[in-house]
Amino acid sequence: MAKTALVTGASSGIGREIARDLSARGFRVILSARREERLRELAEELGDNTRVVVCDVSDREECLRLYEETKSEKISVLVNCAGFGAVGSFDKLPLDTELKMIDTNVTAVHMLTKLFLKDFVAADRGYIMNIASSAGLMYGGPMMATYYA
Ligand SMILES: NC(=O)c1ccc[n+]([C@@H]2O[C@H](COP(=O)([O-])OP(=O)(O)OC[C@H]3O[C@@H](n4cnc5c(N)ncnc54)[C@H](OP(=O)(O)O)[C@@H]3O)[C@@H](O)[C@H]2O)c1
Repeated sequence: MAKTALVTGASSGIGREIARDLSARGFRVILSARREERLRELAEELGDNTRVVVCDVSDREECLRLYEETKSEKISVLVNCAGFGAVGSFDKLPLDTELKMIDTNVTAVHMLTKLFLKDFVAADRGYIMNIASSAGLMYGGPMMATYYA
């Protein structure tokens, strides 16, 4: 039986390429993001066994739902790739945008890592890859203060 991987942020960019790569390595992939049509297109490309779970990870209840709906799938690889970077001066960026970014880039990664890790530890198997930016290793930078932090 193929091993199963869950990839968030699988509808574009890095997450989509990781999903393709995992599929090419023989994994059954569960694709997650908000844009269902893009996920379905990728699922069709990757094959019948691919599953799509639409989820907005900036919402804590949605993170819990993503875990609940997939925890029985014997996932052995979790890739946290959903994220975005809001650009603009700190004093002008809307608070809502920044809070959504923190919820997506930080809280969701924390929640999904914690939820799946306990199952991985219990099963004595599993890998978690958190996609982050080298911006996070710097003291700060222009026009993306919150993203860097
Ligand atoms: N590109 C770079 O140079 C770079 C460098 C370092 C780190 N990163 C980080 O790597 C990650 C992926 O970047 P990328 O360049 O591949 O970006 P991207 O092409 O914009 O992809 C971002 C992915 O995250 C998903 N996403 C965003 N908000 C979401 C939400 N609230 N709920 C669920 N999914 C959400 C998007 O899907 P939907 O819109 O369909 O939900 C999309 O699949 C980001 O965290 C980014 O900060 C990127």
